[in-house]
Amino acid sequence: MTVHPSVQAWREARRGLDFTDCSIGFVPTMGALHAGHRAILERAWAENDRVVLSIFVNPTQFNDPADLQKYPRTLEADLALAAEFTTDVIVPTPQELYPDDYCYRVTEQELSREMEGAQRPGHFDGVLTVVLKLLNLVQAHRVYLGEKDWQQLQLIRGMTKALYLSTEVIACPTIRGADGLALSSRNARLSADGRVRAVDFPKILRTAPDAASAALKLRFAGFDVDYVEDRDGVRLGAVRIENVRLIDNVRL
Ligand code: PAF
Repeated sequence: MTVHPSVQAWREARRGLDFTDCSIGFVPTMGALHAGHRAILERAWAENDRVVLSIFVNPTQFNDPADLQKYPRTLEADLALAAEFTTDVIVPTPQELYPDDYCYRVTEQELSREMEGAQRPGHFDGVLTVVLKLLNLVQAHRVYLGEKDWQQLQLIRGMTKALYLSTEVIACPTIRGADGLALSSRNARLSADGRVRAVDFPKILRTAPDAASAALKLRFAGFDVDYVEDRDGVRLGAVRIENVRLIDNVRL
């Protein structure tokens, strides 16, 4: 596994790779890797000749500076977890990825304004912009994204179609703990008691008869509810518990 500590270093290495006889799978992340990322890397590894992982805590997708500051940075552990299933790791800096100071950005006008986008204005502009930059830099055959971030997945898929990008988007199922809670780097910020209570979140999403009663039951179980919505056969929700924001979705 080669760690490319700059965009420049990666671009030089990428120039030496032949598109014709090697397939590249790309896994974009913000680090703090857990077993959910590991499952995605494993799949990319099984389906491609090379696997490129990016680790970049993208400042433009955080609308709350405190959230950006609190975001866990665990590079050494991330590299150890990735080593088995990754050929290249790109670790760019904000200065390198935003030489234009974020003057140029990608905006989607509909889905990005709802649910997560309504709660976190500008969030998806930041996500789409950084993902477009990374896709252009990596020029992968396939990009692997988790279904846990359902809205992000749909928006990235939509962007690749709208902008005629040649990278295929592969959706990877959400990985859950034995108790049913979706794996997330944010779970580490829950107390032992909070973690036990958080398990009701996916349970209620799955069992409530409709979105409105799911929201009601979640409030009754002690969650602050940002939204619960049913769309395209999926129930999506975002809640807060102990100041930790959790998102999840289940198929109906
Ligand atoms: O899902 C994430 O970790 C991020 O939103 C992504 C796709 C790496 C963009 O920064």
